[in-house]
Amino acid sequence: MKRGEFRGFAGRYPFGFPFATCAIPMRIRSPEILLWLLAIFGGGLLLFALSGRGGAEERIADPSARHDPLRIRVSDEGDPGEAAYRRYCAGCHGVKGDGQGPAAGFLFPKPRDFTRALFKFGSTSAGSLPLDEDLLRTINRGLHGTAMPGWSLLPPSEQVALVRTIKGFSENWRDSAPPAPIPFYQNPFPMDDPAEVARAVTLGEKVYHVTATCWSCHPAYVSEERLKQMLVEGGKPPNARPDLERTLAKPDQWGQEIPPADFPRVKLKSVDNLQDLYRVIMAGVGGTAMPSWELALKPEEIWALTLYVDSIRKGGSTHPGRK
Ligand code: HEC
Ligand code: HEC
Repeated sequence: MKRGEFRGFAGRYPFGFPFATCAIPMRIRSPEILLWLLAIFGGGLLLFALSGRGGAEERIADPSARHDPLRIRVSDEGDPGEAAYRRYCAGCHGVKGDGQGPAAGFLFPKPRDFTRALFKFGSTSAGSLPLDEDLLRTINRGLHGTAMPGWSLLPPSEQVALVRTIKGFSENWRDSAPPAPIPFYQNPFPMDDPAEVARAVTLGEKVYHVTATCWSCHPAYVSEERLKQMLVEGGKPPNARPDLERTLAKPDQWGQEIPPADFPRVKLKSVDNLQDLYRVIMAGVGGTAMPSWELALKPEEIWALTLYVDSIRKGGSTHPGRK
């Protein structure tokens, strides 16, 4: 770090600064150069003396470099995924993939620990291994509203290599395979017909508040009075909870308290479009309280929920406590 800062300083003001200032980086640089020369030639001599055996541990990261001492210093570059991981991901996810990078202590939620092979977002049922394309989607787009950036500017081949590197951190990927993805049902509501979309949103509101009681974790988006009335009409006891307009934080499997999304107020982490919203409702969010709804609800109900959540996400909340 320090070395980089000094170089930048000297590079940015090569002529304009008084000599005294430029002398600082120069003084620091020369012993460094000496150290590098020592390291390179000294190391090379030592290796020569030991017939290439002495540095074996150092070179393990790149097996193809075993018999080529000159490649020791660039062993990182052997696997494009590993090199990219160290450069872009390790600061948060840790060199060992354990989620303990130097930045991790400052972040909420914490960066994923890849050694557990437990992921949040996928097209397989929550808690099971995701597909490669799910990991690729997350890497490409990032997770909105969290510290996890999107990496769409990296070449596609590097993004694919990163998926391989991440999977390399856990034995689970060798011992088991992801299950079949959740089914993708066609949206039964014609989106070009406003009356049909309105019908879906009304049905979705009912599924959200009565059939699935999503408000037991997420907020309710109708008044308490209206909620109780809807529950009775749906043949359920009129039991609400206090603070219906607030979300109830729930513990996750990494020891954090995660707030269920308040749809009009937060960016949904994995959602860019309706298909994404459908997927996360169907599959759930692994390692958190957000369950998979695939088996509990009919395809039409899931799509109605998708269109309803999308409508409140875009500002259609009717909760009286909201502005
Ligand atoms: C600035 C910090 C940061 C950097 C850099 C970062 N991540 Fe993340 N990453 C996170 C956080 C935080 C999460 C967890 C978000 C959550 O739990 O909601 C995460 C989650 C993930 C997940 C898990 C998604 C899931 O479904 O559970 C993957 C995969 C991932 N990151 C890959 C990468 C890769 C690959 C890189 C490097 C190209 C990278 N990350 C760089 C912070 C970071
Ligand atoms: C038992 C608690 C619980 C219930 C019930 C629940 N959720 Fe969630 N939900 C959560 C939690 C916790 C999260 C946050 C996960 C995270 O951000 O890591 C979440 C997140 C979400 C997200 C955001 C996904 C994203 O990409 O950020 C959607 C959409 C969602 N839930 C929809 C629903 C719907 C629709 C229902 C009812 C059918 C429902 N949830 C019921 C706990 C719950």
